[in-house]
Amino acid sequence: MPLHPRDRIFVALDVADLPAALTLVEQVRPYVGGFKVGLELCTTVGVPQVVEAIAAAGGAVFLDLKLHDIPNTVAGAVRAVCALGPAVRMLTLHTQGGAAMLRTSVEAAAVAPARPRLLGVTVLTSIDAAVLAGELGVAEGLEAHVLRLARLALDSGLDGVVASPHEAATVRQACGPGPLIVTPGVRPAWAGVGDQRRVLGPAEALRTGADYLVIGRPITAAADPAAAAARLLAECDGTL
Ligand code: C5P
Repeated sequence: MPLHPRDRIFVALDVADLPAALTLVEQVRPYVGGFKVGLELCTTVGVPQVVEAIAAAGGAVFLDLKLHDIPNTVAGAVRAVCALGPAVRMLTLHTQGGAAMLRTSVEAAAVAPARPRLLGVTVLTSIDAAVLAGELGVAEGLEAHVLRLARLALDSGLDGVVASPHEAATVRQACGPGPLIVTPGVRPAWAGVGDQRRVLGPAEALRTGADYLVIGRPITAAADPAAAAARLLAECDGTL
């Protein structure tokens, strides 16, 4: 069944405490599919607590934990996330952990009664070609490396990848219609770009192959977050 446009929008709750997060959840929940929580909120509040609170407010959760460690340790964390129940819809892992880490995680999730979609993070957008080559010693170009890691994720059984707007089309083209592509860095024309560099409008991002959009400040920093979310949904609605 095709996804409703609303279900494609996840709001990044990049706030420091739970009351601020829950205020946003209450305001925008009718217009979005769920909420992305990352390291700041999870470290402050605790992962089970943040998931429980958002689920109790009727929201689905994208846990952006970017897991990266030896296979046994990451598989244990994946099992712990699965035990949090069906409110957790997506979870991120660093593909740079390698095939063994990714496969062990997929196996750990497969036996759980409820499991989130597992998404691979390829190259962080804060890493550019100069850092990749100079600091990290990776000889192949940035795009080739992103594609290598996306293929590694999918060959290892992950459900999809996180890809910036400019990478989403390349990944979709190279990897076909199967994998989920989740795209941050989305900016409607009426919002400021902030520190994002290579941005795309929501409709364009969906057209280039993204399944889900992660949107933060255009909604969370708006004077009226509910109105901003409604406007964004209307823009996405028009394209599908
Ligand atoms: O406020 P904004 O819409 O830029 O928020 C985007 C969210 O997506 C933030 O939580 C940011 O950390 C995350 N993200 C990103 N680029 C990536 C991966 C994650 O902007 N490549």
